[in-house]
Amino acid sequence: MSIIASNFKTNHTRESTSFFVKEVNDFLVSNKISDDVYIFPTSTSLDSFDTVSNLTMGAQNAYATVKGSFTGEIGTEQLDEFGIKTILIGHSERRHVLGESQEEIAKKFAFYKELGYKIIYCIGEPLEVKESGLEQTLEYIYEQFAGIDTNYENLILAYEPVWAIGTGVTATNDDIRIIHSTLKSQIDKPLLYGGSVKVANVREICELDGVDGALIGTASWNIEDFKQIIENTKDL
Ligand code: PGA
Repeated sequence: MSIIASNFKTNHTRESTSFFVKEVNDFLVSNKISDDVYIFPTSTSLDSFDTVSNLTMGAQNAYATVKGSFTGEIGTEQLDEFGIKTILIGHSERRHVLGESQEEIAKKFAFYKELGYKIIYCIGEPLEVKESGLEQTLEYIYEQFAGIDTNYENLILAYEPVWAIGTGVTATNDDIRIIHSTLKSQIDKPLLYGGSVKVANVREICELDGVDGALIGTASWNIEDFKQIIENTKDL
């Protein structure tokens, strides 16, 4: 059984999100698919969706607070309104585009862990680190675990090399195998791969040893493609 997650990033509206969620839900039901599927819409598109138990809605981000004065952020008061208990933490765009530090990320992790949220925690190295070698790459990735409780029971990890995200350049099977087997030997948690996963390569990637599923951006935003992705991995 694979874990398939769609990260909408800054895409889709309330209306198109609602259509998308219903389509995915109906697809899972009518094909009796037991994959664990996650959808992370924009925070303006969160809602109380009626879904089967293996389709979970999550937040792409939230602040480490119940409520308060944090302009532009949301807290658990807003997530509770829709029964959201799943969150992405440490995504590369939050680290490298929005400038979240490891310290802030660890604080956010601890806050949501305390509340029992399911956390999909992302790690991954930029191109210059990859080019400096495997040892440096692993060292960089391990630093992204600073302050993170990797024994947390509700934790899923996602290895997403920064150079593969949104670039169309997927990591090679060897790249994925080596990082996944190393991480798996040290942290016994489900581990997804992310970074230019597509309809055409999702099965091959999810079949690799040490890969428990995929976290997908671009290729997941089209409903027909996302259904095909689920179809292609449903028996793994
Ligand atoms: P991508 O994004 O599939 O567009 O490469 C993956 C991600 O950022 O989770």
